[in-house]
Amino acid sequence: MAWVSWLPSMLLLFPIFASTAVFSLPAFFPRAPLQSLTQRAQTLKDPKLPFTTHFFPQQLDHFTFQPKAYKVFSQKYLMNSTYWDQGPNHTAPIFVYTGNEGNIEWFAENTGFMLDIAPKFHALLVFIEHRFYGESMPFGKESYESAETLGYLTSTQALADYAVLIRSLKQNLSAEASPVVVFGGSYGGMLAAWFRLKYPHIAIGALASSAPILEFDTITPWSSFYDAVSEDYKDESMNCFEVIKESWNELMAVAARKGGMLELSKTFRACKSLQSVYSVHDWLWTAFVYTAMVDYPTAADFLMPLPAYPIKEMCRIIDGFPQGESKLTKVFSAANLYYNYSGNKSCFDIENGTDPHGLHGWDWQACTEMVMPMTCSNESMFPSSSYDYNEFGDECMAKYGVRPRPHWITTEYGGNRIDAVLKRFGSNIIFSNGMRDPWSRGGVLRNISSSIIALVTEKGAHHLDLRFATKDDPKWLLEQRKQEIDIIQSWID
Ligand SMILES: *[C@@H]1O[C@H](CO)[C@@H](O)[C@H](O)[C@H]1NC(C)=O
Ligand SMILES: *[C@@H]1O[C@H](CO)[C@@H](O)[C@H](O)[C@H]1NC(C)=O
Ligand SMILES: *[C@@H]1O[C@H](CO)[C@@H](O)[C@H](O)[C@H]1NC(C)=O
Ligand SMILES: *[C@@H]1O[C@H](CO)[C@@H](O)[C@H](O)[C@H]1NC(C)=O
Ligand SMILES: *[C@@H]1O[C@H](CO)[C@@H](O)[C@H](O)[C@H]1NC(C)=O
Ligand SMILES: *[C@@H]1O[C@H](CO)[C@@H](O)[C@H](O)[C@H]1NC(C)=O
Ligand SMILES: *[C@@H]1O[C@H](CO)[C@@H](O)[C@H](O)[C@H]1NC(C)=O
Ligand SMILES: *[C@@H]1O[C@H](CO)[C@@H](O)[C@H](O)[C@H]1NC(C)=O
Repeated sequence: MAWVSWLPSMLLLFPIFASTAVFSLPAFFPRAPLQSLTQRAQTLKDPKLPFTTHFFPQQLDHFTFQPKAYKVFSQKYLMNSTYWDQGPNHTAPIFVYTGNEGNIEWFAENTGFMLDIAPKFHALLVFIEHRFYGESMPFGKESYESAETLGYLTSTQALADYAVLIRSLKQNLSAEASPVVVFGGSYGGMLAAWFRLKYPHIAIGALASSAPILEFDTITPWSSFYDAVSEDYKDESMNCFEVIKESWNELMAVAARKGGMLELSKTFRACKSLQSVYSVHDWLWTAFVYTAMVDYPTAADFLMPLPAYPIKEMCRIIDGFPQGESKLTKVFSAANLYYNYSGNKSCFDIENGTDPHGLHGWDWQACTEMVMPMTCSNESMFPSSSYDYNEFGDECMAKYGVRPRPHWITTEYGGNRIDAVLKRFGSNIIFSNGMRDPWSRGGVLRNISSSIIALVTEKGAHHLDLRFATKDDPKWLLEQRKQEIDIIQSWID
């Protein structure tokens, strides 16, 4: 299947399709899904969010003393002090969300758990935006111009930002005695866990939800992400899995026919007639992968508005067709659930291949530190594909003029033999995961010590536990959250 020469290299929240050409096809960077989600993140800035907005003069470079390191930029953070009651001894906690790759409002809005538990803890809530996202742009509109500016977009600088800001805030609020607990989901969860390891004198503990800190090097098998996605569908129905698995060939076969692209434009109700079959491929791919990530037990609107257990719904659609129906019609209808659940799309903008903002932050991070190799095995429902460090490095070089350092994350934060290491040198971290989320496979799924705890649920998807409680939450979710609350309470005690 030489036509599948590239594999979407997934990003944590935003889909990043990095081409990893193992055959000889041209590099291919589909942009539509990325753009639509980025735009979505921007439209989600709800002015009614229950936070006050602040800006902190942050140091550009924490790790050198060259004159240019002293440049200062405005870092955004949100606060809610309504429940904060320091008490006579000034010891009520501060809960800090370590922001990830997007504007901070988006994460604040989707981390209702912190608001839900703030009254119980009399906690101050702080959500800090990650540098180079949202409004925290060190070089304004030029922030993404080149490697000269993007070079300051690193996880180590981001963690140092959080440490400096938290110290300043505590001083300003006369809250030196208040314990700080960090929270994060996805890449933000990785940052929360690493923050506890690197700055134990600033945070007493971390809740790291769906944090794939083991998705690096060869710690986790490279095929596990897409195998996990596939298992989610296979668990619903074998037919559903097989229809999706076989649809890729049908897609290529139709495209190769005379008039095939026209036919595809009709089948997929494209707003503009389609030029490239790969855009359809991406469009479907995105729907199936992202639905696995957000296979929540209740209706939710994180990436897209979706019903409870959306994979079950997708498979119900696929299984509901008569045998003879074409596989493309079936997978199109399933993808319709992801893109059109609200039912108001008259056509699909499948081929929006432009990125008006130029480079996007996570692309740069994936091309420097966040190198998470992924392949599709023959057992997955996706066309099989391989991964090659050199090819990936060449693409990053072409795009940014720098090569990735694929082993830097495990050098800086560890990851290999994590059980033995963290047992002795770490404490007070909760790693929570739901096994429906394909990122869970790169997470910490075993208890490491009496205070480094893995809370794993068989169902549950991408940082489900951090979402606002709803009246429909299943019992296992209530229990997971209760355990988290009890553990955080024990740290504070
Ligand atoms: C803090 O959150 C609560 C609950 O959403 C809200 O009622 C309150 O107004 C918020 N406080 C601030 C200062 O926004
Ligand atoms: C405050 O500190 C005093 C002296 O250490 C202690 O006796 C008291 O129990 C503390 N109060 C609270 C509410 O923690
Ligand atoms: C603390 O106060 C100083 C002086 O007013 C201010 O510059 C700084 O931004 C404040 N820190 C935070 C985290 O807001
Ligand atoms: C479609 O429905 C969604 C959800 O109700 C809404 O947010 C969106 O604005 C609607 N779009 C259009 C084009 O009407
Ligand atoms: C979106 O869903 C509505 C309601 O089911 C349907 O009428 C419409 O045709 C769908 N749009 C597309 C492009 O398929
Ligand atoms: C892509 O989508 C954006 C926003 O919906 C629109 O402004 C732009 O014209 C589209 N580009 C193409 C090539 O269709
Ligand atoms: C998939 O199968 C092909 C042909 O049987 C084989 O050459 C290839 O190595 C397999 N790939 C993986 C990832 O197992
Ligand atoms: C880890 O320990 C807690 C109890 O402290 C337990 O509830 C949980 O199930 C354990 N996690 C795993 C993955 O065994």
